[in-house]
Amino acid sequence: MAPSPLSSDRPALVARLRAAGCVYAEDEADLLIAAADTAEALAWLADRRVAGLPLEHLLGWAEFCGLRVAVDSGVFVPRGRTALLVSAAAAVAGPAPAVLDLCCGSGAAALVLHGRLAPRWLAAADIDPAAVACARRNLAPLGVPVYQGDLFGPIPTEWRGRLDLVVANAPYVPSGAVAILPTEARLHEAPVALDGGVDGLAVLRRVAAGAAEWLAPGGHLAVEISAGQAEALCGLLTEAGLVPRVVHDDDLDATAVTARRPA
Ligand SMILES: C[S@@+](CC[C@H](N)C(=O)[O-])C[C@H]1O[C@@H](n2cnc3c(N)ncnc32)[C@H](O)[C@@H]1O
Repeated sequence: MAPSPLSSDRPALVARLRAAGCVYAEDEADLLIAAADTAEALAWLADRRVAGLPLEHLLGWAEFCGLRVAVDSGVFVPRGRTALLVSAAAAVAGPAPAVLDLCCGSGAAALVLHGRLAPRWLAAADIDPAAVACARRNLAPLGVPVYQGDLFGPIPTEWRGRLDLVVANAPYVPSGAVAILPTEARLHEAPVALDGGVDGLAVLRRVAAGAAEWLAPGGHLAVEISAGQAEALCGLLTEAGLVPRVVHDDDLDATAVTARRPA
């Protein structure tokens, strides 16, 4: 590919991004240069990045598990660590599963699972209209429906008790810790995507109760959590009648829990 005519701006842009605290300044500079078709557009992007807007919101996409996922402003940016949740979920899915990506945000997990599994049914859902619109952009071309509403509320009732896999990267940050999240998250992602209530488990508690009802016997729930919350989460999954198992990945600094509905 021919180098962009804007490449001559790269050294100054790298220095500016680095001074603003961007750890991967070179990579970011290349991505911003590739995204801009004029010097004015590049200046606009650079100014906003230096002001603290998430790179992915400026580019309009994020890389997740090797795929390019559209991410609109205000929508949760899929994190690298969530790759563990997706692989833990895929590992327990079984053949031709019926799969629901609950709290789907951009729909990143559903997008990856669509390629990894051969689901007989796959759908996604979120409460936030901006997330639903974004997920529809990612998933409609694959024929995957995206529902809007509170947890299982909008899911067609014919799937109650018939789902083989429910994946849910629900918010799990305790309300008191939201204020100390990195500014990019705190200022540019919707509070509903981050705030998990007093103990961080308020949404997951409801996900667990719903999963016990919506999973088929032998089906699995897969959720992400912090390592420090895993024990409490396992307690509430057990109370909901599920059988939890914790998975951890040091390299990704990620923890996921799969929980089976007994047959
Ligand atoms: C941490 S983000 C994860 C998004 C996506 N799963 C991902 O990993 O990139 C949590 C998502 O849960 C959604 N959410 C929060 N409460 C919800 C609820 N009660 N019902 C449905 N979605 C909810 C938010 O709108 C947000 O998109």
